[in-house]
Amino acid sequence: MNLRDIIYDESIKFILSGGKGGVGKTSCAGAIAVLSAEYGLRTLVISTDPAHSLSDSVDQNLSGGDVIKIEGIENLWGMEINTEKGMKEFQENLGQMQGPEVEMASQLMGGLDSMAPPGSDEAMAFGKMLEFIGDPNFDRVVFDTAPTGHTLKLLELPDLLDSWLGKMLTLRQRISSMMSGFKAFLGGGMPDEDDSWKMLQQTKEKIRAASIALADEKLTQFVVVMIPEAMAVFETQRLLSSLNKWSIPVSNIIVNQLVPENPSCPFCTSRRRMQQANLKDIRDLYHDLHITEVPLFDHEIRGIDELRRLGKILVGEADTQ
Ligand SMILES: Nc1ncnc2c1ncn2[C@@H]1O[C@H](COP(=O)(O)OP(=O)(O)O)[C@@H](O)[C@H]1O
Ligand SMILES: [Mg+2]
Repeated sequence: MNLRDIIYDESIKFILSGGKGGVGKTSCAGAIAVLSAEYGLRTLVISTDPAHSLSDSVDQNLSGGDVIKIEGIENLWGMEINTEKGMKEFQENLGQMQGPEVEMASQLMGGLDSMAPPGSDEAMAFGKMLEFIGDPNFDRVVFDTAPTGHTLKLLELPDLLDSWLGKMLTLRQRISSMMSGFKAFLGGGMPDEDDSWKMLQQTKEKIRAASIALADEKLTQFVVVMIPEAMAVFETQRLLSSLNKWSIPVSNIIVNQLVPENPSCPFCTSRRRMQQANLKDIRDLYHDLHITEVPLFDHEIRGIDELRRLGKILVGEADTQ
């Protein structure tokens, strides 16, 4: 599947763009979102990068942590995930979990803070992803991910969270059977089912479902964005092997910021030569993936019109020269 097939395939629900910092992940996510929306798909574009730039890219403030309708275009909504706000909400939720089991669990685990899930920033971003996986309000969700390291942590979270939740639930079961023993001994009834624990169980199930959706090539595509420079090649290698490990489908690489030909500019010519040599290596290295070349624009990519222009290049409807 090339980018055009992916963007115009209604059954593809999740598109993630990822790569090194500054290569053009946000611009590409924005462009893909604009094309999806104009194709008629109700589209949500979400930034999971703590250093948000989606607002700048679509030229509208999306920083509140809520889903916001993007102006000037039909069918498009955006959101920048606010991890601090999300973490606070989560801790408040934990704080509201009451009852003897929670007190004992908290003592056993060394306080409520150590009951927080692993990788808190990423956990928040992942939690938000979970909310929109299976959300019937959107036909498509485009994720503008954080630079590679952060995103890799996010992708390994389902496993980590699954085992963390598993531990919590086992602990809960043990404590609760101990408590019911006590209560029976003291003449009390069985402990009440606590909604918070039910929530943990449901979260565990949702994470399972999300991992399955993210690994399903009929639903999900990860698009790698890179620039034709050696450092980016190394990072792409690392990203691709991790995507492979977590079974996230990837079939496309966008090579961005290619310097156009300009014989009267020695600087451009020398940069172009370096880039073209790297581009050749990239083509050899990833011959089994679709590669889309995007030229370096002479201005920033900002606002819906510019994103559409970039989008047309991604789907092969524009002259790349
Ligand atoms: N092909 C391009 N030509 C010109 N400027 C670009 C191009 N791609 C990205 N940019 C600019 O580079 C900067 C970084 O792009 P961005 O999409 O925010 O990267 P990332 O999300 O990977 O950090 C932005 O100012 C964007 O407008
Ligand atoms: Mg970005």
